[in-house]
Amino acid sequence: MTKYQIRGGNPLHGTIQISGAKNAAVAIIPAALLVDGACRIENVPQISDVTLILQILRELGADVRTINRTTVEVDCSHIRNRQVPYELARRIRASYYLVGALLSRFGWAEVPLPGGCDLGGRPIDQHIKGFVAMGAEVDVRSGLICARVPGGARLSGGQVYLDMVSVGATMNIMLAATLAQGMTIIENAAKEPHIVDLANFLNSMGADIRGAGTDVIKIHGVTRLRGGTYSIIPDQIEAGTYMAAVAAAGGEVLIKNVIPKHLDCITAKLAEMGVDIEEQDDALLLRREGPLTRVNVKTMPYPGFPTDMQPQIAAVLCVARGTSVLTEGVWDNRYRYVDEFRRMGAQIQVDGKVAVIEGVDHLTGAPIHACDLRAGAAMIIAGLAAQGLTEIDGVYHIERGYETIVEKLAAVGADIRTIHVPGEEDQSQAG
Ligand code: EPZ
Repeated sequence: MTKYQIRGGNPLHGTIQISGAKNAAVAIIPAALLVDGACRIENVPQISDVTLILQILRELGADVRTINRTTVEVDCSHIRNRQVPYELARRIRASYYLVGALLSRFGWAEVPLPGGCDLGGRPIDQHIKGFVAMGAEVDVRSGLICARVPGGARLSGGQVYLDMVSVGATMNIMLAATLAQGMTIIENAAKEPHIVDLANFLNSMGADIRGAGTDVIKIHGVTRLRGGTYSIIPDQIEAGTYMAAVAAAGGEVLIKNVIPKHLDCITAKLAEMGVDIEEQDDALLLRREGPLTRVNVKTMPYPGFPTDMQPQIAAVLCVARGTSVLTEGVWDNRYRYVDEFRRMGAQIQVDGKVAVIEGVDHLTGAPIHACDLRAGAAMIIAGLAAQGLTEIDGVYHIERGYETIVEKLAAVGADIRTIHVPGEEDQSQAG
């Protein structure tokens, strides 16, 4: 079994380079299925979710070439096999993008229901509503999402009003609509930076998508996309995680390769807590010396405070002075990590979607379990701020979404290392 061992108490000093955005990469890579020709994709993060999605494309017959550490070339011109392997698809949430992409290109898709972090119910009814509005017949049976356009025709443009703001449904409908006949309009669309990134990728290959980043997206279907080169945006949540780490551990760190605008909501909260943040062109300089002050935080779709930063900000609030109220506005059950924090001496009460956190003078190191990706990252932050030794297992969750997190933190002075414990097995990847 692989674990992370952290001896807390070191302030962080130096520079951290942010990688490409996970949630953009896991949509842009399947989007290559729509393209006739080779897509060279740059700034690809080296994380296990990306490895998995590339492996699925290979299984489908795509030609996938690694150009260098952060660049891959994906050519799906000669895809033959359309059966997505269950064992791979169930391990990753983003496998649902294969439905939109395959349906758009072939008018037919059968994809195993996706996996992903356990955050409460994760229905896909809005994705299905979108495909149906474009003329597909969709049903879920034997663990598969089965979608087809009757008569083997192309999808046709449709109008979709999303009942709730959904990142996945917005991107999936965008993928399906790209090669459909006519215009598709998505209303109440999600506005996250990765939505804009997917639209920019598709447009750079010849698609006609307007309005991404607003709540109405119009997609004029085209008959063909051609190959090209595209660079993925920096990861908003990875950057936010390191910002939270500096807030909790103290010190002075330059966080490089970011789009500061994407981080406004996180910057504002940390500044309110007493962190000094200086914005530069593509970097943020964070400094924290004095005590942290309590704040209230409510997560919501972009440009609100991201749900994917909720556990990390909770870790910081555990060591802030006073009582903070944290409200989860997106997922039903994103507080499964709280019991682990309590082992470290955190004072947290949860009632439904609200957590009340009373800051303590210090946390104490403990053996804890990373129950999902962002909760795992939050546990690292708690460990950095704690007195004594923290040992985290279940780190495969963390490695799904953070490139070389141990090395990046150790390079700025954190006492963190990876250990391998013989004789104990990691649980199989839940994805
Ligand atoms: C994406 O999940 C991200 N995953 C999640 O990040 C992130 O938490 C989430 O967006 C919100 O920002 C990927 O991009 C791979 P949603 P997604 O559809 O698309 C409800 C991480 O840590 N809903 O925006 O699956 C749903 O239950 C991961 O990187 C429906 O009811 O989320 C939720 O309450 C975790 N029906 C809300 O909408 C639907 O058909 C938002 O979900 C779709 C969603």
